[in-house]
Amino acid sequence: MRIEDKKVLAALRDLGVELKSDASLTDITYLGIGGTTDLLRLTRHESIPEVVKLLEANGIPFKFVGGGSNLLVADNVLPWVVMQLAQPDPDVVIEGNIASVDAAADLGKTVTLCAKHDLGGMEGLIGVPGTVGGALRMNAGAYGIQIGNYVREVKVYRGGARIIEILKGDQISFEYRHTSFAPDDMMLAVKLELPSKPFREILQGIRICNEKRRASQPLGQKSAGCIFKNPPGASAGRMIDELGLKGLSVGDARVSDRHANFFVNAGKASAKDMLALIADVRERVQKAYGFELENEVVVWNA
Ligand code: EPU
Repeated sequence: MRIEDKKVLAALRDLGVELKSDASLTDITYLGIGGTTDLLRLTRHESIPEVVKLLEANGIPFKFVGGGSNLLVADNVLPWVVMQLAQPDPDVVIEGNIASVDAAADLGKTVTLCAKHDLGGMEGLIGVPGTVGGALRMNAGAYGIQIGNYVREVKVYRGGARIIEILKGDQISFEYRHTSFAPDDMMLAVKLELPSKPFREILQGIRICNEKRRASQPLGQKSAGCIFKNPPGASAGRMIDELGLKGLSVGDARVSDRHANFFVNAGKASAKDMLALIADVRERVQKAYGFELENEVVVWNA
């Protein structure tokens, strides 16, 4: 979708929005899949309610994107524009055991920076790609920890009420790859309360997690991490592997040879290819094991 109305473009500029016209979401998503649309980068996060008001008043549908690491976007010209928070400088401020982090901050860099200030706890998240905002919304986790454990406070734009709110950690429920945020809420910033730990000890934990990840996941390839959530008491990756589906392809969308719950874009896969592969694998697992696998990846159909 393209915004052409000059008045709307001028108003967006006044609100601190940098517009990239006709942007390809293949450049934003880690899967390297997605159509084209206008990309609105918000340099002033506080202006979100006004930007939304402007878009709504002009009948322009929109969606929020974080780092694009867990996202499968439809092909071709997309029927909505996409908003993304620009990264402020600095994006992490540390005082005592509290790290105040902007939602646009890179998760891995945040974990490392906190480590340098002798704040640990998040070692397992080191290889999880994407932004802190995205990690928060999904309650990202790995190697026994999840980000929700450390959330003291979240600043969020509430899509329903169209206001910015500050929520305390205990007002939010964090479950396995799920939170109580609404789909149209946009994370703006978070205060994380982290345990003190010597840098060397944290580094050791980070190294161990990195090694485990390198040994079991296709890190160099375009993927959205795990495609399916693990059903209670079962492993999606193990079931797909046991069915002999590693290497199964639709076009260039392919079940990874390294980890069967990672589906990679091995070339020029389209969303259509990837969705067909997801549907095929889901059906096979359902038939063989009786589990209806739920997507972990967020899908934006057009
Ligand atoms: N397994 C196989 N074949 C495979 C993949 C896995 O047999 O192709 C087996 C493994 O040997 C292991 C079991 O399945 O016994 C579980 O595998 P793994 O330890 O790799 O963990 P996972 O449950 O597949 C989860 C998260 C990952 C996270 C890792 C490490 C989900 C859906 N996945 O994977 O998160 O990195 O644990 O903590 O919860 C993500 O969220 O995108 C993601 C990659």
